Amino acid sequence: MTKAPIKSVQSISLQKTQLRFLTCGSVDDGKSTLIGRILYDSQAVMDDHIFQSKIESDKYGTQGKDLDLALLVDGLQAEREQGITIDVAYRFFETEERKFIAVDTPGHEQYTRNMVTGASNVDLAIILVDAQKGILKQTRRHSAIINLLGIKNVVLAINKMDLIKYSKKKFLTIQNEYSEYVKNLGQVNVVAIPISALIGDGVTTQSKRMPWYSGPTILSFLESVDVTDEKLKKPTRFPIQWVNRPNSNFRGFSGILCSGSISVGDPITIFPSLQESKVAEILEPEGNVPITHAGKSITITLETEVDVSRGDLIATSIDSPHVADKLAAHIVWMHHANLLPERTYDIRFATSETTAQIISLNHKIDVNTFNKHAAKTLELNEIGYCKLSLARPVAFDSYVDNKFTGSFILIDRETKATVGAGIIDYPLRRSSNIKWHDMRVTKKTREQNLKQRPIILWFTGISGSGKSSIADKLEQSLLNRGHSTYLLDGDNVRHGLNKDLGFTDQDRVENIRRVAEVAHLMVDAGLIVLACFISPFKAERQMARSLFEDHEFIEVFVDTPIELCEIRDTKGLYKKARSGKLKNFTGIDSPYERPTKPEIYLKTENKTINELVTVILSYLEGKI
Ligand code: ADX
Repeated sequence: MTKAPIKSVQSISLQKTQLRFLTCGSVDDGKSTLIGRILYDSQAVMDDHIFQSKIESDKYGTQGKDLDLALLVDGLQAEREQGITIDVAYRFFETEERKFIAVDTPGHEQYTRNMVTGASNVDLAIILVDAQKGILKQTRRHSAIINLLGIKNVVLAINKMDLIKYSKKKFLTIQNEYSEYVKNLGQVNVVAIPISALIGDGVTTQSKRMPWYSGPTILSFLESVDVTDEKLKKPTRFPIQWVNRPNSNFRGFSGILCSGSISVGDPITIFPSLQESKVAEILEPEGNVPITHAGKSITITLETEVDVSRGDLIATSIDSPHVADKLAAHIVWMHHANLLPERTYDIRFATSETTAQIISLNHKIDVNTFNKHAAKTLELNEIGYCKLSLARPVAFDSYVDNKFTGSFILIDRETKATVGAGIIDYPLRRSSNIKWHDMRVTKKTREQNLKQRPIILWFTGISGSGKSSIADKLEQSLLNRGHSTYLLDGDNVRHGLNKDLGFTDQDRVENIRRVAEVAHLMVDAGLIVLACFISPFKAERQMARSLFEDHEFIEVFVDTPIELCEIRDTKGLYKKARSGKLKNFTGIDSPYERPTKPEIYLKTENKTINELVTVILSYLEGKI
């Protein structure tokens, strides 16, 4: 492991301005070498760090016996061994002119997400291009993300000039190609600089080998580019990370002030509850202050007793954030498993968290041309424009107004993997003409009238496993006992309500979403509902479950070995699927995710239908 480099942030003098910049490019474009070169030439690296790198360089380096500058930067063992950068690395250094935070992001195709993570808070981006290869798809994708993230200063560092004999002509060709491309991007300041990070040309000193170039070096540009700290000028936003209550006399709200400033006595509003109060005290780690600014970790107390919890957003009473449960946003998809519109994902804003569904995927963006294309899904690294519906109203801003409160991430509910990053465009209002009516007759009234407790039995299992046959028999028994029931069956529902749906992953997700909603209405009507759907994905079964009260949802896993289903093959579908005439067939070329904790587990082999029904009836004893 390389040691932490150079000076710590704390030791950096306070008078100098700070520039946060991002480096991005494809694998082998030389990002790490460039940063290493800046650190080395500007004497920013401590001696023992160089020594360490020399040893590593002999071991892993790609530069023979010469010092491999990339090793000064690449922080992770794995990436050194693989020769690629796989995580975001932050480097702090300073020169006479300025303080710098260099954000090094990976260039490997599948790691676009790290770039999104790293890019969200920078003033400038350096896009590295290998002079031999020119502008690549990856260069365009990175540029598109940089643009989405609102970074207006771009340095196009055309690297490895030594390998093209410092050719002015080739440099100009690449520069022109990029200028043509960014025309589509709106307002961006691009400066193209020819360099050789390995040799040192054009990085911190003018290169004698390129007398035709009279522009700035990378470092001189970084030192002089005009950047103002946007977050100080933005309206005040203070997302609460935790409520600090050491004793009954003190109740403070802690977090990082992410934009604007806040003073003692300021009137504030708490979102989304819209309670109002005034700032009583502001505490910084060093003590009380009358005013503080964006970027500080603070605790504030309020003049009045209000209900504030983690995830709430405090704003001064001018320039309020939006509060809505629907929004339009660009999403950068970051996962191997495609985006499934209608699937429920966890969504995390500055501090608050809820669930979200993509209610429409309007288009995806071709990063090469910036054209919009119709899309049903987003694949890894694709960028789409979507409308989302949230489970509850959340306070947020448009990204152009505030980067911190204007972005979110989407998380897979099963694996907890971050699957997408969102850049909020604007809030969408639910039609204000639609309100929820509380009716006089309630579920409870209907329950009493029907003299039963409504529940849903959710049968899941592969095609031909016996779901419908067991449910059919069970329904007869329940009716005989005087219950009011309804059976929702996959094949049957697909003749009407869901006749527009097929068997792609997306269609199956939508199939389950609709039937879960219908079943929810039926349970509200007081019925005992039997739902028989393959429902192959855990996420959708979980979504269905979440619509009901805890005791109402009973998952019944009908577990029949696929070999047996295939022998029975009552509908002849397995034969068709095996011969390739039927695509996306569950268990053959479409997955089935087995339930891990069903309320009722039916292992059907060697059991009669009556025996299986008895298992369910005895489970229901006293529950309905
Ligand atoms: S689900 O996956 O979306 O839950 P659903 O239960 O509605 O499926 O429908 C499954 C029924 O559709 C199966 O029992 C079978 O009769 C029929 N079917 C037709 N094509 C397929 C397929 N490709 N995969 C699974 N079932 C199919």
